[in-house]
Amino acid sequence: MKDKTEKAKERHIPAPSVESIRDLILEAKKKAYAETDHEPEPELTSAVEWPITCTVGPGLEGAIACESKVGYVNGSKGWLIYRGYDIFDLCAYSTFEETSYLLLHGRLPSQAELTEFTTSLRERMFIPQTQRLMLSFPVETMNPMSALRLGTNLMRQKQTYRDTDTEADLKVGEILATDDDSIPMETRPPGKKNPVFEFLTGLFKRVHPASEDALVGSDEIESCYNLIAGVASVAATIGRTRAGRIPLEPLPEYGLAGNYLYMVTGRRPTALEERIMDISLILHADHGMNASTFASMVVASTLSDIYLAIGAGISALSGPLHGGANVEVVKMLAEIGDPSNVKKWFRETTAAKKKVMGFGHRVYKAYDPRARILGPISALLTENDETRRKTYATAVALEDAVVSELGAKKIFPNVDFYSGIVYSAMGIPQELYTTIFAVSRVAGWCARVVEYLENNRIFRPRAMYTGTFDETYVPPSER
Ligand code: CMC
Repeated sequence: MKDKTEKAKERHIPAPSVESIRDLILEAKKKAYAETDHEPEPELTSAVEWPITCTVGPGLEGAIACESKVGYVNGSKGWLIYRGYDIFDLCAYSTFEETSYLLLHGRLPSQAELTEFTTSLRERMFIPQTQRLMLSFPVETMNPMSALRLGTNLMRQKQTYRDTDTEADLKVGEILATDDDSIPMETRPPGKKNPVFEFLTGLFKRVHPASEDALVGSDEIESCYNLIAGVASVAATIGRTRAGRIPLEPLPEYGLAGNYLYMVTGRRPTALEERIMDISLILHADHGMNASTFASMVVASTLSDIYLAIGAGISALSGPLHGGANVEVVKMLAEIGDPSNVKKWFRETTAAKKKVMGFGHRVYKAYDPRARILGPISALLTENDETRRKTYATAVALEDAVVSELGAKKIFPNVDFYSGIVYSAMGIPQELYTTIFAVSRVAGWCARVVEYLENNRIFRPRAMYTGTFDETYVPPSER
């Protein structure tokens, strides 16, 4: 009989490489393309002549809120497009920085622009004063999404001039510079095993405006850059603080995904981990007029500033029906425990008329392309660990059960079904998963807010009043 080690050796497959992940994405693309044709829906891809007539269901289902060139979700076919580029191609070939640039500016950057943008985001991840301010709140006991919203607000205090009464009060040139004062930070210098406390390492150039012209306005594209970089640092700070550690500075050799991982775990990520996080950020970056994007746009449409708009997006994303589902999925898989328990669990769940987390979507009535990418990645990442392999096998058994029972109702896995398994395999604590969604989606929120503000009209739908009329006011003492 073979002993445990021999069995493990037999099972061991070589660690996946960055190239093998790309192959896997291109394979998923092939499968997706083979299953659907590729005609856009004319009723959702043409210019709007306002006013329009559309059939609106509860929860504004079917309502057209605006025109947009940022991205397109074809729910009946399962496509996701950012600025004309297919999500499979972006995940196979792009980076989160490049994808963010694409979403914000409407085109892919040149090599020089990409280098400059990537460097700029890395510098903007350096927000020690916001990190220090966060340490004065009970971040470690707060809901991570509440803490993220708090941190985003604190960044705003440092990065815009909206909160000063008069422009005369401004110390021009100190707006962003205020965020680089020296505080002891725990950093791990290159080549050193352990982090050390030290004052400013000097690894980064200051990100402060050189002239009054460069003063960061609250709804300018510069603020979007600050937000895309800063939300990642704030999210990492939350993870770090919850682990009882002091926040880390970003490192110059990593992009945003790698730095996020480093700043959360305190460990330098491998090239594979960095790439997988990059892919995950790319595929969560935009998704049409979802609840959090719409929330950001509603707030921005009042001409409130973009930091507050992004705070609204974070709030909306936190709920279990939206971004919070990825955490619920992992809890659910742990509760099921084993593939052999799936059938019974699913029977009981449907009998209780409960929804299965990580399934269904307002728009997708086909397989979510993001789940097509994250599913195989989670298979690869879990293959060499017995516990994780069991979680993945439980997920697959659940997918089979749900799709065979509810596939006719067009219920398929969504992006949240496999993302938690991927994050867990990379050692990220469960309670941070929804914050990662925000680290990515902030790019889409910014792009859509900036686009909408070009032709802004305050959002103001109406409710159908179904209350009473003619009530007579009775004073409290007589009720
Ligand atoms: N499990 C079982 N049945 C479901 C599910 C599910 N996850 N989702 C929808 N259904 C059924 C639902 O019971 C209803 O059946 P019936 O018509 O017989 O009453 C039908 O499908 C339509 O559902 P709905 O709730 O009216 O659909 P919706 O468009 O209002 O909600 C949703 C979309 C995503 C909120 C919902 O599918 C859901 O709650 N899913 C679980 C939570 C989840 O995974 N959320 C992540 C969404 S993807 C990431 C993101 O964008 O945030």
